[in-house]
Amino acid sequence: MKVTAIGTGYVGLVTGACLAEMGNHVVCLDVNPEKIRILNEGQIPIHEPGLLDIVRRNVAAGRLQFTTDIDRAVNHGTIMFIGVGTPPDEDGSADLQYVLAAARSIGQRMTDYKVIVDKSTVPVGTADRVRAAVEEELAKRGSNLNFSVVSNPEFLKEGAAVEDFMKPDRIIVGSDDEQATLFMRALYSPFTRNHDRMIVMDLRSAEFTKYAANAMLATRISFMNEMALLAEKVGADIELVRRGIGSDPRIGYSFLYAGAGYGGSCFPKDVKALIRAAEDEGIPLRVLTAVEQANERQKLLLVDKVVSRFGSDLSGRHFALWGLAFKPNTDDMREAPALVIVQELLRRGATLAAYDPVAMPEAQRLLGDHGGLQLCPSAEAALEGADALLLITEWKEFRTPDFDGIKRSLKQPVVFDGRNQWEPALMKTLGFEHFAIGRGL
Ligand code: NAD
Ligand code: UGA
Repeated sequence: MKVTAIGTGYVGLVTGACLAEMGNHVVCLDVNPEKIRILNEGQIPIHEPGLLDIVRRNVAAGRLQFTTDIDRAVNHGTIMFIGVGTPPDEDGSADLQYVLAAARSIGQRMTDYKVIVDKSTVPVGTADRVRAAVEEELAKRGSNLNFSVVSNPEFLKEGAAVEDFMKPDRIIVGSDDEQATLFMRALYSPFTRNHDRMIVMDLRSAEFTKYAANAMLATRISFMNEMALLAEKVGADIELVRRGIGSDPRIGYSFLYAGAGYGGSCFPKDVKALIRAAEDEGIPLRVLTAVEQANERQKLLLVDKVVSRFGSDLSGRHFALWGLAFKPNTDDMREAPALVIVQELLRRGATLAAYDPVAMPEAQRLLGDHGGLQLCPSAEAALEGADALLLITEWKEFRTPDFDGIKRSLKQPVVFDGRNQWEPALMKTLGFEHFAIGRGL
């Protein structure tokens, strides 16, 4: 089939590349010429395991192309994915300007039937606004071309995006139009061959499903983070509690890890947007409001622990930070807990040396060479002469590091384990002062 992906970020690029892998002919459009230049030079602008190979293979096969040419992109696809950003507006609601601009650019140029697919995370009712925007543009041209609007929210996780797209738990399709549903079934048939994972519903329920899913996942995390605070006080170990409750199939093991708080481009913004949308309807979301507040507090928890150990004035203190990305296997630092931690430690007068396995260019872009913050070429280099080490992102290479080396490099053997990667008993045996999250034993 002929597919266009508008927006070549995490979602648009993965969607375009994975659909090309299944034999579709895909054109990916972006308004950012730098991204398209990188892609046309055989590289990808993000770190996403497995994606580069798929992109290169499909470009070579002639099934995947990248362009900034809107006319060409709109002309190409029968199925038009909109995968542009929906950042928070000043009041927390989702800013739809990019989605609606993409819709308008389709309406201004289309010359035949299109299935317009909202893949961005958008509030309930957005499909109606997309339809209205396209209709308005068609009317300006005196055209009454037929088109359909479908909601097909994306559930991929960064760092596992290809795997998630290729083996989806479910494919949600919101549609009130049989022809469009047929197109979507055909497009996704390679992904649902063994087991029909497509759930077709009305447009509004599909749009809602995406927010409800992210809100539920964020809720689990904040719940566990609060349980961890209590566990620490009452002398229990949240890691044992996690295993204990996860074994109940009604609860399950996933997304129960206490840590330094959730970050990323989606949970924080989607939780905010849902709270805001509900306020507009006169329904205060009390649970979700608490989820957000708990997360704000959680992002500062490691700093609180540092302050308890070293005092509130940290001038003259120097700390090593391991991990800056909001989670492992990505270079994305949007809303990363590390950003809050860096800012707060610097504000209290500390100096910092930080290392991340892939996010160093992004850290350079966002934080630069700030006076008090040194970006280091290796994990070992960051440790040199530090008063303590803070582990913020659980990259695999930090799981069983050279503990003797850490001890030799630090001024004193103090570690703050923001992702519960190291067993307290082992750390004690090795002679570390070890502060973790919710490990009160
Ligand atoms: P992103 O910021 O990585 O990419 C968006 C891209 O759209 C940018 O490259 C931007 O230049 C481009 N763009 C903006 N307006 C355009 C236009 N009119 N025409 C063409 N290109 C345009 O965003 P993302 O992380 O891929 O997220 C996109 C959407 O998908 C958001 O709504 C997000 O909530 C949702 N989502 C993201 C993820 C994720 O893991 N990142 C997962 C599921 C859903
Ligand atoms: C999340 C969802 O998992 C995806 O299903 C969704 O498509 C996506 O948001 C989106 O809408 O953009 P993502 O943000 O890429 O994916 O990453 P997650 O693995 O969900 O992690 C989000 C944050 O939660 C990270 O900061 C991570 O460290 C934290 N987290 C996750 C925990 O603190 N504990 C956990 O148990 C799991």
